[in-house]
Amino acid sequence: MSVVRFGVSVEKDLLEALDAYVSDNGFTNRSQAIRQLISNNLVLEKWKCNNIVAGSVTLLYDHHKGDVMNKITDIQHEYHDEILSSQHFHLDHDNCLEIIAVKGKSKNLTELADRLIAVKDIQHGKLSMSRVN
Ligand code: NI
Repeated sequence: MSVVRFGVSVEKDLLEALDAYVSDNGFTNRSQAIRQLISNNLVLEKWKCNNIVAGSVTLLYDHHKGDVMNKITDIQHEYHDEILSSQHFHLDHDNCLEIIAVKGKSKNLTELADRLIAVKDIQHGKLSMSRVN
């Protein structure tokens, strides 16, 4: 694939943030980091559509913390049409792993996952999706 050079103007603090991102993630240079940032964001954008997809939302949390369990249950009830099943694993005394199987329009699943992952005290959250057709 041919490579095209182009100039970009950014604020100084944004460039410093980019350089920190480059070094924190072990990129060779700014170009490599920018390439990845662009392609990740374009992939995310592609999912905000009406394609029917299926996948899973994985959540990790400490069930003692705050109101995390009630909040994620409330959100899941709002998306009962999209949720096929969910499975809860008690990993140890504190930590829970929840895997929620989902199917529906990718924009709805993205919205559901974003809301779940944004709940305070969720330690880790990830959505993975594949096109069904
Ligand atoms: Ni548990």
